[in-house]
Amino acid sequence: MPANISLAERMSWISESPTMRVSAAADRMKAEGHDVVAFGAGEPDFPTPENIKRAAILAIEQNFTKYTAASGTLELKKAICERHRLDFGTDYSPAECCVSVGGKHSIFNLMQILIDPGDEVIIPIPYWVTYADVVAYSQGRAVFVETHEDHGFELRAEMIESAITDKTKLIFVNSPNNPTGAVMAREEFEKVVAIAHARGIYVLSDECYSQLVYEGQPYSAAAFADAKNTVIISGSLSKNYSMTGWRMGFTLAPAAIAKAMGTLQSQSTSNPTSVAQKAAVEALTGPQDSIGEMLTEYRTRRDYVVGRLRAMPGITCAMPKGAFYAFPNMSAYYGKKGIANSLDFSEQLLEKALVAAVPGGAFGAEDYLRISYAASMADLEKGLDRIEQFLAQLS
Ligand SMILES: Cc1ncc(COP(=O)(O)O)c(C=O)c1O
Repeated sequence: MPANISLAERMSWISESPTMRVSAAADRMKAEGHDVVAFGAGEPDFPTPENIKRAAILAIEQNFTKYTAASGTLELKKAICERHRLDFGTDYSPAECCVSVGGKHSIFNLMQILIDPGDEVIIPIPYWVTYADVVAYSQGRAVFVETHEDHGFELRAEMIESAITDKTKLIFVNSPNNPTGAVMAREEFEKVVAIAHARGIYVLSDECYSQLVYEGQPYSAAAFADAKNTVIISGSLSKNYSMTGWRMGFTLAPAAIAKAMGTLQSQSTSNPTSVAQKAAVEALTGPQDSIGEMLTEYRTRRDYVVGRLRAMPGITCAMPKGAFYAFPNMSAYYGKKGIANSLDFSEQLLEKALVAAVPGGAFGAEDYLRISYAASMADLEKGLDRIEQFLAQLS
């Protein structure tokens, strides 16, 4: 960077998202003509369902192309509250809802409006890459608690409880989890909410993968006792409806928080795209069949991917109960052929085997590699064959 470019200090508190970096590296190699298999991006490979696309086209034809309220249209807020009520038995009103430009935007804004310098934010490891950076950007202090592979990366209330101090302001919970696919036991989540409620701490429940659950019924912490002033929901249409590019996310929270989110957006992004909001209304109020169809397909892929990984020498892999990621432990191969850590592993895997996957270090878990199985069966077969051959060459 030329010496006369001087960025604000806060830009040194965050770095580019590692998942986006891996995707960009894979795209670059593809553009150079390499046959890369991409397991990096956390993105459904299914197209956005037809009815949702048609709603957006209709919105354009009907000139629904102007500013809306900065926090989203009343129509969409009603649709979000109603969908959440139908899916999870909650009771939100539009005043408790803010629509944002994706779930990531919702979480970023929440940190900006809730966290003061020095406030502590509890983040379970492995965590979604963005949490630590957005906490740092708001000058909060991330306090990490570790979950373990031998217990399926399950988060338990006692882990959270032991990390709470007088400075704790907020607890992140992400279930189903990215990157492990772990789903938190309902009773444990209830205990976390009860503890947080008693201590006046917020629980930010990231419901990005809320419908992508393979065992048991999906649930929302917002339906628990004492949730109303304690639980904040960050939701997204990206994964459940295969709408990553549309940038549709939302927050469900006490009205004062939802209002503050709207105020921040009124001075930053203004409204999420008007046309995408119409598409989101259709996604939430129209037929929901596509979710079940995608889930069936993901389950087949999950079983295949985990089965293949577990059959590879030295690899262990917990069975994911939700989302669309496998998180195998690759550490048996560290120390071989110049591989010291997860970053070395994923870089060599990309260069030598043409498979893109995200290093576990990006999620606070060095021993692992995240493989997104939101890819076609043909690509999964090809990519896993390549991983197998790559490991054989390392041995
Ligand atoms: C756990 C988790 N939360 C939130 C998001 C944000 O998704 P989006 O900004 O596309 O709504 C993601 C995306 O990968 C995620 O994995």
